[in-house]
This record gives sequence, structure tokens and C-alpha cells, in this order.
Amino acid sequence: MPVTRRCVCPGSYDPVTAGHRDVIVRAAALYDEVVVAVLHNPAKAGTFTIEERISLIEEAAEGLPNVRVAAFANRLLVDVCRELDSDVVVKGLRGGTDFAYEMPMALMNRHLTGLETVFLPGASEFEHISSSLVKEVSRFGGDVTGMVSDRVRDALLARLDRPESAN
Ligand code: PNS
Repeated sequence: MPVTRRCVCPGSYDPVTAGHRDVIVRAAALYDEVVVAVLHNPAKAGTFTIEERISLIEEAAEGLPNVRVAAFANRLLVDVCRELDSDVVVKGLRGGTDFAYEMPMALMNRHLTGLETVFLPGASEFEHISSSLVKEVSRFGGDVTGMVSDRVRDALLARLDRPESAN
């Protein structure tokens, strides 16, 4: 029987952006199965609940039959990947700052269990897009159309409509 090549796309996804979607789509073309793993710490309130993040990712991955979404609380990525029977994670790299942030994690994960990290170069049109910047721009009235799905944009507008909001 042929081996199923499965990868994990981990992240906070608070919320999923067009850049995340691009990486998920490209990972789905490279692997038989993609598990988008939402890793979170329940003690830290995010902007979106885990259920909302999952639903927004599922919408972003609509039409990709080999992508599924799962959430994991307070877990090491290496343990999540072991549970999912995956020995590779796929991540997007937007530039030097991402590289400096991602490399130690990739090396640590490899040290811990041999988990490999495959980096996909971020598409240039999404280079400046991150969940935190999108939230900040939206909170102060900027238009984030195209940086996130319309549903995420509208959810942000509903949630971050007050500059004094703690989110
Ligand atoms: O979207 P983010 O915030 O860049 O995602 C970071 C994430 C969740 C992938 C990373 O923090 C992570 O892997 N957390 C799980 C805990 C863990 O394994 N920490 C050690 C990493 S070497």
C-alpha cells in the first residue's frame, strides 16, 4: 500500500490570513494530507475563540479535500505531530524576521524528535501580512480587504470596533 505523505501546518491563526491560506493551498498540492494545527494556550485569551479560528480556517480551505483542521492546547508541536503521525511541518517564510524566529524552533523540533520543517517562500504580495498587523490596521479603521477573507474582515470589524478594546 502506498505511504500517505502527511504534513502539519501549525500556528496560532488568530485569525487566518491570506498568507496562511496561500501556504495551506501550496502544502495541499505537495502532500497527500494537510493537518492545519491550531496550537494555543487556553490561559491566554486570543482575539478569536478556538472554535472561531477553526471555522475561519475551514472556510479558507474550502475546496481542498485533503486539508483538515484540529486544535491542540498546551502541547509541544513535536508531540502533536507524533499524534498525527506526521514527520514534517510546513511553514511560510516572509523574510529575514520570520527566518530568525523560525530557525531556532525548526532546529529545536529536529533536535527533540527529528521532526523536519519545510519552509515555503512567502508570496511577495502577502509579505507584509500578519494576523497581528491585520488586527491593528482593522482596529484603527484601516481596510484589510484582500489581506483576510471577507468573513474574517467583517468579524474583525465587529470585534475590534473600539480603539480601547483590549484584544
Ligand atoms: O502562528 P505562530 O504564533 O507563529 O505559531 C507559532 C507556533 C504555535 C507554531 C509555535 O509557537 C509552536 O510550535 N508552539 C507549540 C509549543 C512548542 O512546541 N514550543 C516549542 C517550539 S520549538
